[in-house]
Formats: sequence, C-alpha cells, structure tokens
Amino acid sequence: MTTKLKDVQNPLLFEIAWEVANKVGGIYTVIKTKAPVTVQEYGDRYCLIGPLSYKSAPMEVEALEPPTPELKETLDNMTSQGIKSLFGRWLIEGAPYVLLFDTGSAYGRLDEWKGDLWKVAGIPSPSGDHETNEAILFGYLVSWFLGEIAARFNKKENPPAVIAHFHEWLAGVAVPLIRKRHIDIATVFTTHATLLGRYLCAGSVDFYNNLQYFNVDDEAGKRGIYHRYCIERAAAHCCDVFTTVSDITAYESEHLLKRKPDGVLPNGLNVVKFSAMHEFQNLHAISKDKISNFIRGHFYGHYDFDLENTLYLFTAGRYEYRNKGVDMFVEALARLNHRLREIQSPMTVVAFIIMPGRTESFAVEALKGQALTKALRETVREIQDRVGKKIYETALRGHEIEAKEVMSSEDNILLKRRTFALKRTTLPPIVTHNIINDSEDPVMNQLRRLSLFNYPGDRVKVIFHPEFLNANNPLIGMDYEEFVRGCHLGVFPSYYEPWGYTPAECTVMGVPSITTNLSGFGCFMEDSIENTEDYGIYIVDRRMKSVDESINQLADQMFRFAQKSRRQRINQRNRTERLSDLLDWKRMGLEYVKARQLALRRVYGDSFDTEDTADGYFDQGNHNKIPKPLSVPGSPNPEAVDDEYEDHL
Ligand code: UDP
Ligand code: G6P
Ligand code: GLC
Repeated sequence: MTTKLKDVQNPLLFEIAWEVANKVGGIYTVIKTKAPVTVQEYGDRYCLIGPLSYKSAPMEVEALEPPTPELKETLDNMTSQGIKSLFGRWLIEGAPYVLLFDTGSAYGRLDEWKGDLWKVAGIPSPSGDHETNEAILFGYLVSWFLGEIAARFNKKENPPAVIAHFHEWLAGVAVPLIRKRHIDIATVFTTHATLLGRYLCAGSVDFYNNLQYFNVDDEAGKRGIYHRYCIERAAAHCCDVFTTVSDITAYESEHLLKRKPDGVLPNGLNVVKFSAMHEFQNLHAISKDKISNFIRGHFYGHYDFDLENTLYLFTAGRYEYRNKGVDMFVEALARLNHRLREIQSPMTVVAFIIMPGRTESFAVEALKGQALTKALRETVREIQDRVGKKIYETALRGHEIEAKEVMSSEDNILLKRRTFALKRTTLPPIVTHNIINDSEDPVMNQLRRLSLFNYPGDRVKVIFHPEFLNANNPLIGMDYEEFVRGCHLGVFPSYYEPWGYTPAECTVMGVPSITTNLSGFGCFMEDSIENTEDYGIYIVDRRMKSVDESINQLADQMFRFAQKSRRQRINQRNRTERLSDLLDWKRMGLEYVKARQLALRRVYGDSFDTEDTADGYFDQGNHNKIPKPLSVPGSPNPEAVDDEYEDHL
C-alpha cells in the first residue's frame, strides 16, 4: 500500500468534526480551545474540516485562496462536480485553516452513497433520519477530498505523511471508507461518548453495573439507532488509532463498541492568565452585580432577601434531564431548602437551570419585572439629578436646605407610582420562557412536584432559563462565561458524562463546582488531586451510593457551601483557580501528540529512522497527585484556621 517513504517529521494534519465552526456542545469547545496549541505545533500544515452553514460561516470564517496547488486542484475538481465548499481561516484564537463542505450541494448523490455504504461497509441507512443522512454526505465528501489530496501529495518527491483525526460518529463515516479504499493516510478516531451509552443512560437502566452484559445490536435496534451504531462501531474499528476522552468512556467503549481504546485524550482548555493575580476575583464581583440586577427585577414585589447573603448556584448544558443529573439537582435543592429553613439560615440560594428546551417566547411575567425595575432605576436617577441641582443651587446661595423640601411633591408622586407598580399578587416565576408542552417538561414537573415555587419563606429560589445565555438576551444580558464568573457554585451531578466541560470551565475561572465520579472530569480530578474538596471540586459518589444517598450527599455539599463566610469563599476561589494549569491544553495537548505519533508509527513505520514498536505511547506512568493546600491544617475547625493561614499566603 505505502509505496514511498514519507516525511514523517513534517506531517499534514486534518481534524474533522461536525462541530467545526458549528456550535452544538462540548466537542465545539474541544476543537476551538485546542486550536492555538495545534497551530503552534503544525502551523499551516493544520486544517480543520467541518460542515458549511451559510448562516454562521460568514461570521466565523475569512475566505482565502487555497495556499497549495494540491489543495487548489482538489477543491477545483470537486467544485467542477457541483460540490460547494468554503476554505479560509477560522476566526478564533490561533486562526487555523478551515475547510467547510456544503452537504446540501451533494444531496443528489445521497442514494448512490447510501447504496455504496451498504455494499462496502455493510452499514444500513434507513430513510428519514436526517442527521444520519448528513453524516453520510459529510463522510463521503471528506473521504473524497482526503483521497484526492493524498494522491496528489504522493506524486511529490518526498511526500508528507498525512494524519486525519476524526471526532465522534457524526464525522465517522469517512473512516471505514478510507480503510476500504486504501487511502494512504493515518487515521485517528476519538469518540466523545458512545451512542448506546447516551441512550441507555437516558432511560432507566442500571448502566454501569451491566456494561459487560448488554446485547449491543439488540439494544441499538430497540432504540432505532442500529444504523448510527454501525457507523460508530465501524469508525472505532477501522481507524489506525482509537481514543476517547476519559477512562470511564474507554471502559464503556471497550464493552459497547468492542474495541479497547489505544489511549485517552482528556479535554483541556485554553487557560488565560490575568497579569494581576486577583483579577478573576474582581471579575466575579462585577459579573455578580449584573446577575443581582436581574434578580432584583425577577423578584420584584418579593424582594425581601438580602443580596449580600445570597448565593448563586447554577447548572447548565444540553437538555439531557437524567444524563446531566438535573433530576438529582432539583431534588437536592428541595432538601437544601428544607435544611436552610430548619436552621433559620440568613442565606438565600438562587439556583439557575440553564438548558435549552423547546420554547415559544420569553414569559411576559419575567420581562415585566425587568421593565419595572428599569423604569424605577431611571426615575430614581432623574429625581437624583433634580434633587442634586436643588441642593447645589440652594447651597450656592448660602441657604440651608430642609430635608423635606428636597424632593418636590411631583417627584414624590412619581416615585410612589413606581413603587405601587412593584406590588404583585403572583409569585416570582420559576421559568423565564413559555415552554412548549409545559405539562410534559421534566424540569417543570419536578419543580412542581417538589413545590419549589419561590415562596417568600423558601430559602432556595429557582429560575429555569430554557435557553443558552447570550449578551443580547433581554433578561440576563450576559454571555455564558460572564454569567459563570458571577456565580458562586456550578452544580453538575451528571449520570452520563464522558468528560463534562462545564465544571472544568468553572475551575479555570476560579468558580468551585460539584461534579460526580461518573463524569470523566470528576474522575480525572480525583486521580490528580489528593483532596479535591479543598480545591473547590466537590464530587458526588454516584457509583457506590444509592440514589437517595447521592442526593443527600449533594444536598449536604451545597449546605456546607452555604455555611461558608465570604472570606472562606474568596479563599476557596483562589485555590480553585490554582488548578487551571492542570487543565491547560499546553499540558493536555501532549496526549494528542502521542496519539498522532502512534498513528504515524503504525502506518508509516518504515519512514522512521529508529526502530520503535510504537507501543506504550499512552502509558501514563506514575504521576504525583496535587497535595492538600498548605492552608488546610488538620484542625478540628478547619474553616476557622483556614482563614488565618490563607490570608498570609
Ligand atoms: N455552554 C454554552 N452556553 C450555555 C451553557 C453551556 O456555551 O449557556 C457550553 C459550555 O461552555 C460547554 C458546552 O456548552 O463548553 C457543554 O459541554 P459539556 O462537555 O459540558 O457537555 P456536552 O454538551 O458536550 O455533553
Ligand atoms: C471578590 C471581590 C471582593 C468581593 C467578593 C465577593 O473576591 O474581589 O471584593 O467582596 O468577590 O465574594 P462573594 O463570594 O460574596 O460573592
Ligand atoms: C460529549 C460529552 C461531554 C464531553 C464532550 C467533549 O458531548 O457529552 O461529556 O465533555 O463531548 O469531549
């Protein structure tokens, strides 16, 4: 197959994913945040490949002429056959090359390609599954492209080795095709979950205790995803190097996809360090103020709690009710409410659930609160101006001013009118939008079942925001990152979570979080740190405990968090932020380097000078755990001593 020796020192790298320049969930975060380190290593030899969306591409990509004759000829040839694509630079940090294919331009070939997929790979593709159709079109376009460009490069004297790294089943169709067509490139396939895992966990199955025993074909068939499962399994088996994002998903892949991954590629983040150490603390205070403004509006008429003694907790992610552990979060909030009431705590906890659901519009009641408080703020500002002028003028004339004369009767009436408008007969809403099929929405039903209705006596208030955040939002006008910074604690009690970026993102922003020992991130942190809780990483045990015990543990963690003083929270945020380096791509990216090396050595072993078996690339070896922070002595009252110590650091 491989005829010529390859330049394995300067390989070309293509990275292919459905979420390239196309935000859906965590895979987008992987690709985007990893770009700077990959560009640093590969420069212009790196190119990402994704689907072309005419809606978002103009904002995401700066179009360019293809820089090499091989690329130009390949794209010209595809264009002449009706395939539309966009090549350019993705406008993100690192500015990598990006190539986006318009799957719509290939729809005419769908039936032919489906037939071929069945013939060469035995993968069926029933009609009517739009997502799979897209995956097939994308896979055929990518394999067409890679086949042609590899052949063109191979005509060169010293052709570069080519690596193609695929993410997730949606980009997986090309992998078996490359194998069947003997395309001369090295392939890596990384799965970020397994289809069966996600589906099985979303139902009521005891997943982790039965992993070895599932009849995979049967289970996939029962759920109508057999054809998708075939694509995923084919990609896992036909790639040269198979990887996933965590040990827990590696174990799952071994049983459900029937291939043990060659290694684990944990997800990193592009950690931005501020020049001033405490800048992130200041940002917390600024963002928190913005959230507080929203809270004032939302709770108008019932604004009877003290924002100085209020904590903002949140969960966020794609709306997978059970997998993301929202069921457990809401249940634990009800228990927390009960406990805080019982001890007559002065603290109020506001818990946000940020998960995009099917909605019609913002709820009028939610918008009204913001409008009323905005009007009041403006009125107060105008009155302030008038009062200020009056005092100034009077003082200039050397007269004394009577306090009751300061405000005119018109201003008094105006203010009264605004205050009257703030009276309300309804409770502050628990949801910010009108949800389609509200009576069947699992979050709403759980909130109702537990009577979490934002009653005045409740110490835990809830706000379900069934849409991702963005700065143009009329209610909470903040983007997600800003919102996270303003919160006190992220809560992600997932049942199924191959990695889980949301708590990792909290960590690098210095925001403590709760995760579980069923999430890749949670296990990674448990493996890397001696006592995670000291660093603001709380881990709920969902493996060895019953559901009820896990909920109690979660409620207990939130309760303990609510007992902390401000000083203690500040100290804990400092420690959390110190973990950032652990999650930086500069460190995590090394595993990707190993995966690519392994692929090169497996495929182009002859082209290497040294004889290397390529085995053991992923051996993690013994690593030392991060010890307890110095500021946590073994005191009977650690929190009290903790403050004194940390203040001197
Ligand atoms: N996210 C977002 N806006 C939100 C909530 C979440 O952009 O309002 C992002 C978040 O930053 C994270 C991703 O969605 O990077 C979710 O990734 P995760 O790995 O936690 O879960 P996945 O959706 O991939 O299962
Ligand atoms: C940051 C700011 C402090 C502020 C604190 C509030 O640390 O630098 O000025 O007092 O946040 O913390 P809290 O946990 O009460 O939101
Ligand atoms: C998947 C997983 C998530 C992971 C992300 C990135 O979507 O659900 O846990 O963080 O991929 O690897």
